[in-house]
Amino acid sequence: MAHKRKKVAVIGAGFVGATTAHWAAQKELGDVVLLDINEGTAIGKSMDLAQSGPIEMFDTKIKGTSNYADIKDADVVIITAGMPRKPGMSRDELVGINAKIVKDVCAGIKQHAPNSVVIVVCNPMDVMAVYAKQQLGFPRERVIGMGGSLDSARFRAFIAEELNVSVKDVTGVVLGNHGDAMMPVVRTAAVGSVPLVDLLPMEKINAIVARTKSAGAEIGGHLKTGSAFFAPSRGAIEMAESILKDQKRIIPCAVELNGEFGVKDNLMVGVMCKLGGAGMEGIIDFKMNADEKAEFDKSVEAVRALVALLKMVQ
Ligand code: NAI
Ligand code: 2OP
Repeated sequence: MAHKRKKVAVIGAGFVGATTAHWAAQKELGDVVLLDINEGTAIGKSMDLAQSGPIEMFDTKIKGTSNYADIKDADVVIITAGMPRKPGMSRDELVGINAKIVKDVCAGIKQHAPNSVVIVVCNPMDVMAVYAKQQLGFPRERVIGMGGSLDSARFRAFIAEELNVSVKDVTGVVLGNHGDAMMPVVRTAAVGSVPLVDLLPMEKINAIVARTKSAGAEIGGHLKTGSAFFAPSRGAIEMAESILKDQKRIIPCAVELNGEFGVKDNLMVGVMCKLGGAGMEGIIDFKMNADEKAEFDKSVEAVRALVALLKMVQ
């Protein structure tokens, strides 16, 4: 049997989508299909990216398209299609606009890549992931939201900056929703395996937590139009790589909870997951202390409110 390369489809060739394709190509994760409703954007950016191959030395094939038939049998599909948040606009306001886009995109995925693992990036991510899962009808193992990977990276970047240490030696996760109620977990954050709480006074830690929560808005405020894309796309690729290479990495991402942490009702919330060839292969169901659980529950309620909003705008 002919060897089949892995295939990654990126839906949406805007800032996040094109940069996602860039990381995927550079890391040779598999052949890349970049699909956008605006065919010229997808084709032009794909050609440009492919022509960097002989310099960067990657052999990835990259195809730009607006035709869903081209994502046939993709192993991983990353949904970045959607409007980004404008300055002063909440993620919530995007619900109605982006739900329509997600509906179209999911119809294409369902028809042409029915066995794929789908990573949802477009905002408000938590509720778009819930909606995508409904539209796709895939099991919870194969519809996963990207937020925790990005937010955890930001948390770690700010800790490293504050302590003037390498980001490589900082661990820490952000759980909960990808929104204002997200939950940087202070208790488990560490630098060189030493607990963060032993290294910094609480007021400094609180400032890092606050900056992590508003990091997306901080960048959006500087950009004026559009929002962050380098770290978000790298977050999606961290997840895709673990799935495509069956790495079984533990990465915080939004998945449907079936009773874990006391959450049901088809809500998708960020928790630590094992990502491998089958998609979400397990949830790290650790014991939160009372303060953490109260904070996590606020995140859950934020997702629940957005799901209610989605029902209203439909
Ligand atoms: P962008 O505006 O640069 O790109 C969006 C692309 O989607 C455009 O090229 C547009 O033509 C395309 N598109 C629109 N409707 C489509 C459809 N029906 N089918 C296919 N393509 C379609 O936006 P950007 O900066 O790339 O952001 C994309 C989304 O990702 C936004 O919703 C943004 O809020 C979200 N985001 C989420 C993050 C997260 O952590 N989950 C982080 C950063 C961005
Ligand atoms: C971010 O956190 C806007 O969700 C996007 O940068």
